[in-house]
Amino acid sequence: MAQYLITGIAGFIGSNIARALLARGEQVRGIDNLSTGNRANLVDIGPKIDFHEADILDTDAITKACKGVDYIFHEAAIPSVPKSVKDPVSCNRACVDGTVSVLVAARDAKVKRVVYAASSSAYGDTPTLPKREDMMPNPISPYAVAKLTGEYYMSSFYRCYGLETVSLRYFNIFGPFQDPTSPYSGVLAKFTTQMLKGEQPTIFGDGETSRDFTYIDNAVSANLLACHAPAAQVAGKMCNVATGTRFTLKETFEILKKLTGYTGTVAYAPEREGDVKHSLADVSKAAECFGYKTLVDFEDGLRRTMEWYKTQG
Ligand code: UD1
Repeated sequence: MAQYLITGIAGFIGSNIARALLARGEQVRGIDNLSTGNRANLVDIGPKIDFHEADILDTDAITKACKGVDYIFHEAAIPSVPKSVKDPVSCNRACVDGTVSVLVAARDAKVKRVVYAASSSAYGDTPTLPKREDMMPNPISPYAVAKLTGEYYMSSFYRCYGLETVSLRYFNIFGPFQDPTSPYSGVLAKFTTQMLKGEQPTIFGDGETSRDFTYIDNAVSANLLACHAPAAQVAGKMCNVATGTRFTLKETFEILKKLTGYTGTVAYAPEREGDVKHSLADVSKAAECFGYKTLVDFEDGLRRTMEWYKTQG
């Protein structure tokens, strides 16, 4: 049995990774400052994890959290494009300084591997689709810059200190435990819960914006595969984690209409600052490096997500 540390364990992706690890009988420790994470996400697994309520920027706390750890999933962040446009300093502190803090502690604790939550936002608005890892990054928002900087730190710690790191560029992950209540929440969490309640959702822009929306189980599987793939195939590398398909916001609204039974219309508002127009991944590198494949497609994922939100009232 290995010892795992999940940073941001009370968040949407962190808590889902924790559940998957516990199902495999692993030992799970988590650190979270509960700034964007939520204790409610840990309700079902609380007694089974070693939870440290602390900030990854707190050197003593992260040093303690890394003690005896074999593998780290680094999910802690302030995960929002618009929030970063509003407050780039906090975004940088959480995503860049926080990442360096985790890496230093991981290096000193002789952790075997760090798997990092990187972001598709690094590609920015380059016109070529699908996005491949060998393309020049072109970050637009402070969030994209911060997440990309984290990737560079990951590969730097591998090259300078031999700490094995893997960066996973997530493409719009959605699913159970994603918070729908913040103005910065992911679009699918918002739309699904709004439409279930009969409330009108709002599309920012003309509705043609497209995303490679990726159900959470795919991201969790990518993390576990990347964590245990041979070092020669993954260490110091970065791979897309997505489905290789894209849907526009308009199409998404129509699918959700059928799923939720919502009978109203959608509202339109101006495009958000820092937004990327189209996003679609090439997922062949993840397949080559660690045998990644899409487990749950978009529509099935949306159905599962909706069913989960229904059970949450
Ligand atoms: C971006 C990143 C993603 C990252 C995420 C963190 C890209 C391509 N993706 O997601 O990798 O994980 O930040 O938060 O940069 N929208 C509406 N109505 C709403 C809410 C959102 O129309 O009520 C629109 C947004 O303007 C955007 C799209 O839906 O065009 C997706 O937004 P969101 O779910 O917030 O994710 P991204 O910003 O694409």
